[in-house]
Amino acid sequence: MTDETATLTIAGKSYEFEVYTGTENERAIDFQKLRSQTGYITMDQGYGNTGSCFSSITYVDGAKGILRYRGYPIEEIAEQATFVEVAYLILYGELPDPRQLANFRANLAEHAQLHTSLEHHFSGFPKDAPPMAILSAMLNLVSCFHPEVLDVHAEGPGFDRTVALLLSKVRAIAAFSYRMATGKPLMHPNPNLSYCSNFLHMMFSEPYREFIATPVVERALNLFLVLHADHEQNCSTSTVRVVGSSRANLFSSVSAGVCALWGPLHGGANAAVIRMLEEIKTSGKPISHYLEMAKDKNNDYRLMGFGHRVYKNFDPRSLILKKRVYAVLEELQQEDPLLEVALELEEKTLKDDYFVERNLYPNIDFYSGILLRAIGIPLNMYTVMFAIGRMPGWIANWRELLEHNQRISRPRQIYTGETTRPFVPLAQR
Ligand code: CMC
Repeated sequence: MTDETATLTIAGKSYEFEVYTGTENERAIDFQKLRSQTGYITMDQGYGNTGSCFSSITYVDGAKGILRYRGYPIEEIAEQATFVEVAYLILYGELPDPRQLANFRANLAEHAQLHTSLEHHFSGFPKDAPPMAILSAMLNLVSCFHPEVLDVHAEGPGFDRTVALLLSKVRAIAAFSYRMATGKPLMHPNPNLSYCSNFLHMMFSEPYREFIATPVVERALNLFLVLHADHEQNCSTSTVRVVGSSRANLFSSVSAGVCALWGPLHGGANAAVIRMLEEIKTSGKPISHYLEMAKDKNNDYRLMGFGHRVYKNFDPRSLILKKRVYAVLEELQQEDPLLEVALELEEKTLKDDYFVERNLYPNIDFYSGILLRAIGIPLNMYTVMFAIGRMPGWIANWRELLEHNQRISRPRQIYTGETTRPFVPLAQR
């Protein structure tokens, strides 16, 4: 809270409201009493201008292209930290020392295995079931086999255990859904492997041939997960907070987060980008054809992987990914024809007035799919990979909401339906 106040005048009458300032000097007018004092509510569809919480997890400055986890710039984190270190940082607020990191890793290894009875549930899904549907359903199911995780007030070792269980098992759920869809036997985790290698082992090992991830592939996956680990109050994280605000348990809250992430305007964009690039490549039509479609207000078509609610200059994650995509393709001695299409599309878009005027730049999803392709992840798993990466952010936000004892989320509306009218009995209709 600051000494500053904001004055609002409605029909000649003035009302004063308090102002909050964050540690990065962002400011908010406290309108919590607006309705009780004035009878008005604020209208902000899509919540583009609404602060829904106070948070000390992630800072984003969209105008300057800044992203920091707990104060650490994403560029430095992406260069130097593993996903497990970043998860610890996001969850507990500080970088782990070697002993803390070793304990955290040991906890993850201990909880990597899915309950045997739970494994049978995978065969109940149709072979072509969307992996995001499986992930959301299975996250809720996991909690049925570990009822202690339903305790929303767990502290200390109890909370640490719940966190490790979720972060670790989400990998197995993702990998098992892929194995099931491809008709392969489930591959159990190997506790001696790192977080990323273990996931790739569960995805790609064969009964008598263990998949050993090369350092290049492991680093690339780490980077992908690190860049997705948190992003303040985006659609899925807000969803986790909204669900958690009713004091719903962590597993049901993140399961809802998975559903929110699924849509193509959010996490589903990473797969949609690849489909779009493939279509551009195979259609033989010039890029200008797709730009015109995206600009046409009578057409729903959008360039996937472009635009962002917060970043209005560049998305720092996209710059990091673009650089790494080149390096990974080179190190793996691969060429991806879609990279050429992506580069041309980006170049043309950045010169086009429509995109320039609206500050539409490549976002994280524009190059992430090319990275996932390079390391062999199948297209229908891309958004699941986003969900694995976002898990620390969801958990930390859920936790913070409870620590702040946040009120239940309950927006208002402006009603535009019929005014009162007498009920007409069925016989008279
Ligand atoms: N292609 C063409 N036009 C666009 C695009 C696009 N990708 N994105 C925004 N616009 C236009 C939009 O039509 C509008 O134009 P006008 O002012 O003339 O009506 C203007 O730009 C502002 O767009 P908006 O829809 O009001 O912006 P928003 O903040 O509500 O939506 C967005 C942000 C990311 C959903 C949107 O840019 C979009 O649909 N992008 C494509 C999907 C995508 O890449 N999503 C991944 C987002 S980043 C990862 C994540 O956090 O999920």
